[in-house]
This record gives sequence, C-alpha cells and structure tokens, in this order.
Amino acid sequence: MTMADMPVLFDEAAIAQRVDELAADIARRLPKDLLIVGLLKGSFVFVADLVRALHRRGLAPQVEFMRLSSYGLGTTSGGEVHLLGDVPGDVSGRAVLLVDDIVDTGQSLTYAMALLDQREVGRISTCALIDKPSRRRVTVRLDFKGFTIGDLFIAGYGIDYAERYRELPFIVTVSTPATAPDKEA
Ligand code: PRP
Repeated sequence: MTMADMPVLFDEAAIAQRVDELAADIARRLPKDLLIVGLLKGSFVFVADLVRALHRRGLAPQVEFMRLSSYGLGTTSGGEVHLLGDVPGDVSGRAVLLVDDIVDTGQSLTYAMALLDQREVGRISTCALIDKPSRRRVTVRLDFKGFTIGDLFIAGYGIDYAERYRELPFIVTVSTPATAPDKEA
C-alpha cells in the first residue's frame, strides 16, 4: 500500500483547529489541576498537542499514561483488552481526563475507567479525538470528542495500521472494511 491509496481524511489544520476547540471546551468544564491519563500507544500524539492547547487556555494539567492493547497487527479489535502498563502513584480524589485517540468498540475506555474507579479517583471525564460509533460493543460516555467517522479504517496522528503510520501528522483512510485484510488474531 502506498500513500496514494490512503486519502487524507483530516489534515493538519483541521486537527489543530479541533484540538484547540476541544481544549477550550475542556478548560470551561474541568478544573485547572486536571490529571490527564492518556491511553498508549495511540494517544501519544493527541495528548502532546492537547496538553499544549490546554496550557494556552490557562490549565496546568499533570500527565500520566496507561498502556492498553486490544488490537493485534490487523485492523479490527481483538475484543479483549490487556493492561501493559499502569498509572503510577496515588490518584485518589483527582479529577481525571482519560484521553484516547479513537473509540471503536468502547472496550479500552471502559476498561480504563473501571481500573481508575478502583483507585477511588474523583470525577472521571473522557475525551477522544475520533469516535467511531458503528462498531461500539459497550456503551461508553464520551464527554469530549473531536470527530465522528463512519465504518472506516484510519491511520496517522498516533493511530497505527499494523504498527505503521503513527508518525503521519494527519489522518488518512487506510481502507474500508470490504477491502481490509483479515485480522490475524
Ligand atoms: C486502539 C486505540 C484505542 C483502542 C480503541 O488501541 O488506540 O485505544 O484501540 O478500540 P476499542 O474502542 O475497540 O477498545 P490499540 O489497542 O490498538 O493499541 P495502541 O494504542 O497501542 O495502538
């Protein structure tokens, strides 16, 4: 597959504008000393841009990450979420904003919320750059969302396709389900 087969869905300017709008909304609704918890690996680019946009809106968030994995090397969810790395330290009582790149089945975000609930954090809010509701398996509350997409496979801006393309500064459509390769797992 070449870049010519991967049309741009959201370019850098569109993403930057939406990230800034999300930051403005978050700054209006959540406390200044927010604890951001990004879900790795996919959220690393989005979190990096979002925290700087939040700074410009007057917030001073702390940043932690939780590493989860639900996909294999293919494009569709394996249906089981694995915890590969947890948030360190005491997070009890904190106002947490869970940040993910994309919500697909909803299982990763649900898993992360349940894990944080056990730590008796304060209020948990959720944020994803991309919402893909067509494949949802569990209902999950998304308080802040950037873009809603249909049943497309996408990559770029931290999101991988078989571990490639995370470095793209924009988001491309990789394939539709009809043309996607079978998942290996
Ligand atoms: C992807 C993505 C989300 C999750 C969404 O992560 O980054 O975290 O899947 O899918 P879901 O709503 O069906 O749970 P993945 O598990 O592929 O790991 P990665 O972030 O390391 O790419």
